[in-house]
Amino acid sequence: MAIPEHIAREVIDPKAYADGKRVDDAFTWLRANAPLDVATVEGFDPFWVVTRHADILNIERQNDLFHNEDRSATLTTIESDKRVREMMGGSPNILRSLVQMDNPDHMQYRRLTQAWFMPQNLRKLEDRVREIARGFIDQMAAKGTECDFARDVAFLYPLHVIMEVLGVPPIDEPRMLKLTQELFGTQDPDVNRAGKEVGTTDDALKMINETIFDFMTYFNAMTEDRRQNPREDLASVIANGAVYGQPLGHLEAMSYYIIAATAGHDTTSNTTAGAMWALAENPDQFRKVKDDLSLIPSMVEESIRWETPVKHFMRTATDDTEVAGQKIAKNDWLFLAYPSGNRDEAVFDDPFTFKVDRSPNKHVAFGYGAHVCIGQHLARMEMRVLWEELLPRLHSIEMAGKPQRTQANFVSGPKSVPIRFKMS
Ligand code: HEM
Repeated sequence: MAIPEHIAREVIDPKAYADGKRVDDAFTWLRANAPLDVATVEGFDPFWVVTRHADILNIERQNDLFHNEDRSATLTTIESDKRVREMMGGSPNILRSLVQMDNPDHMQYRRLTQAWFMPQNLRKLEDRVREIARGFIDQMAAKGTECDFARDVAFLYPLHVIMEVLGVPPIDEPRMLKLTQELFGTQDPDVNRAGKEVGTTDDALKMINETIFDFMTYFNAMTEDRRQNPREDLASVIANGAVYGQPLGHLEAMSYYIIAATAGHDTTSNTTAGAMWALAENPDQFRKVKDDLSLIPSMVEESIRWETPVKHFMRTATDDTEVAGQKIAKNDWLFLAYPSGNRDEAVFDDPFTFKVDRSPNKHVAFGYGAHVCIGQHLARMEMRVLWEELLPRLHSIEMAGKPQRTQANFVSGPKSVPIRFKMS
C-alpha cells in the first residue's frame, strides 16, 4: 500500500517539525503500519519513507547500492530539482561536500580531514574548549535568573568552537550564524534570508543561492590567505590539501568549508538546547544527573537521540533490490527518517521518555556506515565539557515561557528555550 496522503504530508511539512508531536505521531503510525513505503505528494517525485531503525542501518550500510549523489541528497521539489540541474550543468546538488559524494571521490575527500576529527587529535583541543564553555557559563550566570538558553548559550558556544577550529575570527561569527540559519532555515520566516514565508521555488532558490554566494566569497578569500600563510587550523588543511595528487576542486573546497561552518555547529546547538529543554521538563532526570555527574556522557548520548537535529538524508538506489520485503527499483529515492529510527519501539524501551542513564543507546542521529557523521566525536566532546562545567553550578531550572522549534524538515531543533534558573 502507499502511504496515506495526510501522513506523507506530515513527513515533509516544516511546520510539523516545528510542532514536534505532529511529526512524531506520523512516524509512529508509519512504523506500525507502513514502515517502508512510498509517499506521493503533489510537487514531489514519489519517494520511499524509511522509518524503522533496522532498515535505516541496512540501507546506510550498503553505500554502493544506495548513493548520495545521483539525485538530491535532501528532499526537494520537482521544480527545484529542475532548476538546480539547469544551474549546475546537470548535477542535482548545489554543493558538493561529503554528503553529496559517492566513492571513489567520497573516500578520497573524507580521508583529507578524517584524522583531524578523531578523538586522539581532539583531545588536544579539550582544555581550550573547556575555557570557551566556562566563558559562556559565566555570561549565563551574569544574566541573573533568566535567559533564553537556546539563543544565549546553545547557539553561540558550538559556533565559537567550530569557528575557532576552522580559523574564522570571532568578529565574523555573527555573520556565520546568520548564514547558517538562512541555509538550514529557508522554510522558517523567522530566520530565512527574506524574513517571510517562502513563496515560489524561485524565491527559495534565490535565497539559497545568495546565502551560498556569501559563504563562497568569504571562504574564497580564506583559501587564498591560507595558501600564502598556512596555520594550524582546519581551513589550512582544506586550502592546502590534495586529492588524487591535485588541490581540491573549487566547488568541493567551498562545499567542505560550508558543511563544516554549518553542520559543525547548528546540529550541536540544537542538541544542547534540546537537552536543557528536556532537563527543565524532567526535574527527576535533572536531579539524577546532578547527583551523579558520571552520567553526563550517557545524558549527552540521550540528548542526541532525543533531539535528532538532522531529520533526514536521501539515498538513491543504483540497482533493483529488496529491503524489508519491498521491491525497490533502480533510481528510486529514499528518505531516511532519523527521528523515527530514534523512537523505534523495537530498539528503545519507552522511546518517548528522556532518560539520562539510557543504556544501551544505539541511536542513528549521526547516521551510519561510510557517511557516518565525521564530527561526532567533536560534538560529543563539546557537549560533555559544557555539562561538566554547567551542572555543578546549576542548582535549579524551570521553563520560563513556551519553547519553540525551527520550522524546517532537514536540520532543525529548538530556536528558543526560555528558562528560569539558580546558579552559583
Ligand atoms: C554527516 C548528524 C555534528 C560534520 C552527518 C550525518 C548526520 C549528522 C545524520 C549524515 C550521516 C549519514 O549519511 O549516514 C550530526 C549530529 C551532530 C553533528 C546529530 C551533532 C549533534 C557535526 C559536527 C561536524 C559535522 C560538529 C563538524 C564539522 C559532518 C560532515 C558530514 C556529516 C562533514 C558528512 C560526512 C560524510 O558524508 O562522509 N552528520 N552531525 N557534524 N557531519 Fe555531522
